[in-house]
Amino acid sequence: MSTTHPVVIIPGDGIGPEVMDAVLRILEATNAPLRWLRHKAGLAALEEGNEVLPRTTLEAIEHEGLALKGPCTTPVGKGFSSINVQLRKRLNLYAAVRPVRSLPGVRSRYENVDLVIIRENTEGLYSGVENEVVPGVVMSMKVATETGCRRIAHWAFRYATQRRRRKITVMHKANIMKLTDGLFLREAERVQHHEYPNIDLETTIIDAGCMRLVQDPSQFDILLLENLYGDVVSDLCAGLVGGLGVVPGANIGDHGAIFEAVHGSAPDIAGKDVANPLALLMSAVMMLNYLADEREDGSCREIAGRIKAAYNQALSDGCRTRDLGGDLGTKAFADAIIERLSA
Ligand code: NAI
Repeated sequence: MSTTHPVVIIPGDGIGPEVMDAVLRILEATNAPLRWLRHKAGLAALEEGNEVLPRTTLEAIEHEGLALKGPCTTPVGKGFSSINVQLRKRLNLYAAVRPVRSLPGVRSRYENVDLVIIRENTEGLYSGVENEVVPGVVMSMKVATETGCRRIAHWAFRYATQRRRRKITVMHKANIMKLTDGLFLREAERVQHHEYPNIDLETTIIDAGCMRLVQDPSQFDILLLENLYGDVVSDLCAGLVGGLGVVPGANIGDHGAIFEAVHGSAPDIAGKDVANPLALLMSAVMMLNYLADEREDGSCREIAGRIKAAYNQALSDGCRTRDLGGDLGTKAFADAIIERLSA
């Protein structure tokens, strides 16, 4: 197939532009059938005098149905609301999928970790509805809908079936939040019972589940969580395999997807050429596989495989960025991967 796929590129803030440059260089070295449409969001857009989420950026993603995004900074405790949350909600990208796997040569507490986190991406405490009831008393609203809970449960079980996964663990706090987490849990149970009896469903209260995760991650296969828990547990799981530099992600809806690393804009290391571009590169590999599935372009699957082989080889050869105990900069690590791309 000779089609090129337009991809909206949002470099983002902090380390975003550095890791995005590295990833685009690697993709270009493969001659992947992709065409970049560069747009801005977040602080980068504000600095140019635009809105924090420009209409043109949103419309471009809506039109193309595909974006590769760097991290966007969100002010803490004040200022504008998260661009990431806005994008996921406005484009209805309700499923966040984050594979967490051990990598060759990357030392961590465990070997052979192979988990997938599926996070509901549009509801829960990220409703953004917060108010001051009276001075000194503030409130945040946790929203769960039957439609939203059922939709993510379906998505997770379908994903498990397609990927030949055996078990889904729902982590919840339905002992305390009986209505909201209760609904999330009940819908997962209902979907499994009626439609996916061949996939095991395990349920665990999230506090105990987190303890089990750090004790022995091999007990788990797919984790299904509501929005906030999914956010927190993603970083916990990143810590099981070497950190935030190596965990990719995708935000997927019925009409499009945005691929982005789990990590944030890492202001502490921005502009120093030390950030690990691997998490964003792995997100780009997920994007290529998504194109192969959704647009039936087999060349994308082949290129995804070549990139994966190249970064695995680079890691096995001892090429590593600082977060993984190495001394290669962002650019040099990208060069090491490019050198290892097979023809
Ligand atoms: P962070 O993920 O940016 O950084 C946490 C720690 O991990 C830092 O020490 C950082 O240096 C390190 N780190 C992260 N990515 C790395 C990489 N690729 N290579 C090497 N080291 C890496 O989290 P933090 O500091 O809590 O958040 C910073 C900003 O990012 C905040 O404004 C936050 O809202 C935003 N954020 C954005 C996300 C997105 O756009 N999807 C996701 C998470 C946070």
